[in-house]
Amino acid sequence: LYTRMLKGEKDLPERHQLRIIHKEGYPVWIETTTVPINWQGKIATLNFIRDITEIKKAEEENQRLQEQLIQSQKMESIGRFIAGIIHDLNNILTPIKGFTQLSIARIGEHDPVSVYLKTIFSSVEKAEGFVKQLLAFCKKQKPKLEVLNMNDMIENIEDTLKRLLGEDILLVKKLSPDIGTVEADSSQIIRVILNIAANARDAMPLGGQFIIETSNVEIDDEYLKKYNGLKKGPYVMISFTDTGVGIPPNLADKIFNPFFTTKEYSTGMGLSTVYGIVKQHKGNITVHSEKGKGTTFRVYLPRVDKKIEKESAEKIDKIYTGNETVLVIDDDENIRKLIIEILKKLGYKPLEAMTTDIALFLAQFYNKTIHLVISDVVLPGIGGPVLIRRIKKYRPNIKVLYMSAFPENTLKKYGVDENSYNFIQKPFTIEYLAKKIREVLDKCR
Ligand SMILES: Nc1ncnc2c1ncn2[C@@H]1O[C@H](COP(=O)(O)OP(=O)(O)OP(=O)(O)O)[C@@H](O)[C@H]1O
Ligand SMILES: [Mg+2]
Repeated sequence: LYTRMLKGEKDLPERHQLRIIHKEGYPVWIETTTVPINWQGKIATLNFIRDITEIKKAEEENQRLQEQLIQSQKMESIGRFIAGIIHDLNNILTPIKGFTQLSIARIGEHDPVSVYLKTIFSSVEKAEGFVKQLLAFCKKQKPKLEVLNMNDMIENIEDTLKRLLGEDILLVKKLSPDIGTVEADSSQIIRVILNIAANARDAMPLGGQFIIETSNVEIDDEYLKKYNGLKKGPYVMISFTDTGVGIPPNLADKIFNPFFTTKEYSTGMGLSTVYGIVKQHKGNITVHSEKGKGTTFRVYLPRVDKKIEKESAEKIDKIYTGNETVLVIDDDENIRKLIIEILKKLGYKPLEAMTTDIALFLAQFYNKTIHLVISDVVLPGIGGPVLIRRIKKYRPNIKVLYMSAFPENTLKKYGVDENSYNFIQKPFTIEYLAKKIREVLDKCR
């Protein structure tokens, strides 16, 4: 450049940025500015050199933040997109599940067709499981927390794990006998374990070992220096080690991304689901891997000092019936028909409204008591919450049960009065709806 400048060439770039090595061995960024001048009658160059290492660092940091922002925006829009799909799927699954259940009840266990119907029912439940998995990824659903012992959890799913791993992989358990309890959603924790185990299996096509270890750990400043993402305090750690192919270092920070996969026929949702679930439980997951030797995932969950409750509240052993009048509002015909059908079966007097206008008309002119209104939250026109407020003008004592295919924690957005509402998540089982209706009707205001 200098030579070309000295030869009098015009329009050459004046500034240059270079990365050089300082004599002490560390890299430094400099910027040179070269100006052609006349020096004692000859053409010469005047050169300035400036240390721009700090500026370069700031630029790189800025770039990194930009990329992070774009990434998080991308995740957010994927999240919104998936939330929409979840809503539609829940609406589709609700009548399939309900009518299948009703059909089984109608034809009886002994009819050979009931086997077909049960297959449909279990397929729907599988689809629901899939939807829940998507939900966990969207972080839209609060986990159903119960006090759990991780050792028991692992023992409980040992058979499933063995079947998943296959004959060539040895399952080794090293469970700490005095393991503390955690507060977690058991179905989600199972999903975490099975996803990690499935990956381990794929990493050991020729067999090997899958080692699950539990221990109590204290997260202290030392730990936090190495990993962030946790608060100080007591945790239960579950580590999963395989003797598989390992993860190449350049992929290590990508494996938790949704849709990242190195497998031909996979969706790449496994670890991103795991990550979403663990974060929802205020925990953390780390990964250590050596190529050719194997991989260890460590899941940390906050430890709690609580005892395990024995009976699960979800068990419903009697069908809840009644004879009250119930107004059902849903613009989705299949769901409306399903609820009407269930209500009739349980002995209630159902009234049906497919639009908010019809509902208001009934509220105003129906000449007997309406005890309960079951309404979808999102309805065309004025929407559920406004409709309910208007119905209450005519019938201040009416009880209200909202239902939605959207998760409960999004209801505020739709104007549901937070202090006083009852809610049922679609898709529901007949037993659950029946129990909920009875519960709302029996509540004293
Ligand atoms: N134990 C492991 N050993 C080696 N590589 C792993 C291991 N666990 C995950 N990986 C790598 O991380 C990638 C992402 O894993 P993830 O579970 O998210 O998706 P997947 O297994 O490819 O697909 P899916 O779980 O949806 O079927 C895998 O494709 C694989 O390359
Ligand atoms: Mg996987």
